[in-house]
Amino acid sequence: MKNRQWLLARRPYGPIQDSDFNFVETDVPTPGAGEVLVRTLMLSCDPTQRGWIARDSYMPAVEIGEVVRSFGVGRIEASNNPDFAVGDIVAGLTGWQDYVAMNPKDQLNKLPPGAPLELAMSALGVNGITAYFGLLDVGRAVAGETVVVSGAAGATGSVAGQIAKIKGCRAVGIAGGAEKCRWLTAEAGFDAAIDYKAEDVQASLNELCPKGIDVFFDNVGGDILDAALAGLAMRGRVVLCGAIAIYNATEQPPGPKNYLNLLLKRGRMEGFIVFDYMPRAAEAIGALAGWVQAGRIKYRVDVQHGLENAPATLRRLFDGRNEGKQLLRVAE
Ligand SMILES: NC(=O)c1ccc[n+]([C@@H]2O[C@H](COP(=O)([O-])OP(=O)(O)OC[C@H]3O[C@@H](n4cnc5c(N)ncnc54)[C@H](OP(=O)(O)O)[C@@H]3O)[C@@H](O)[C@H]2O)c1
Repeated sequence: MKNRQWLLARRPYGPIQDSDFNFVETDVPTPGAGEVLVRTLMLSCDPTQRGWIARDSYMPAVEIGEVVRSFGVGRIEASNNPDFAVGDIVAGLTGWQDYVAMNPKDQLNKLPPGAPLELAMSALGVNGITAYFGLLDVGRAVAGETVVVSGAAGATGSVAGQIAKIKGCRAVGIAGGAEKCRWLTAEAGFDAAIDYKAEDVQASLNELCPKGIDVFFDNVGGDILDAALAGLAMRGRVVLCGAIAIYNATEQPPGPKNYLNLLLKRGRMEGFIVFDYMPRAAEAIGALAGWVQAGRIKYRVDVQHGLENAPATLRRLFDGRNEGKQLLRVAE
């Protein structure tokens, strides 16, 4: 038995390339005292991984030569920890590797037996929790308001827009391409969708949000953020969830041109990191699970296969090729 690992070879410059990493084979680690051995089953692909390998941010950067950091779900194959048994399914930062030995305390969460991995890693996972607290806690969306979501067909955005609907708001999504926009209105229940690749976003926002945008849940940044700032309603809130349009930038991106509208409209723009909300995760998961079960939240997963395809699968997020939550199946 060997352990395949993707190690960081160099910091990315522009879009992620395979040559930013080395694919190596080592021995399967032996768990030490208090540790468990985890067999990775499924990896989560997250835009923030581009940041983790590029620089220190809200977490220290992955060092050159280290295993690439990644959320994943795995099965315990050996345990020296009384709280974790062989066969338990756990979630945590497993990394891009087949096996990892680690101390599970505060690092791994057990999933309920039989929980579908795809659901636990999308609408009921980090993305769902992000959407929940981003919209309700940071954005403070209330019934009757107009909520606009960018990256709306993605793992986080699609849940944010559907929570907005559940809370009695009007939801307008911005996404790339006719098929994603069709899914938003026909299946996910958004009131309207804007195809930013084919439309003038600012003109479409003016048309669809004549009274202005009360909450803008931004996953994208760049020109789309600018267009939304221009259309802000009085006391509008801009939730900075992410800025994928600028994650691959090689130069400092320009600041938002229309920020002065925050002043004129007495608006607020606030960023957040979902990790800060983890002590309250059960609240979000409980609500989300109920809505999924009731068919009020639809989610899509896009499962690719094979650890050898990890860099290519992560790149799909930046090309918009993922249809819903991007996952990578590593083992059964
Ligand atoms: N603050 C937090 O704690 C937190 C937690 C989780 C995620 N996030 C952020 O949330 C955002 C979404 O993450 P996710 O995991 O849910 O991924 P996702 O939305 O499922 O996938 C990324 C999507 O971004 C869009 N995209 C890529 N490049 C773009 C560009 N140049 N301009 C506009 N759209 C672009 C693509 O959709 P289209 O086909 O529509 O272009 C792609 O499908 C990211 O910015 C991420 O960093 C933040």
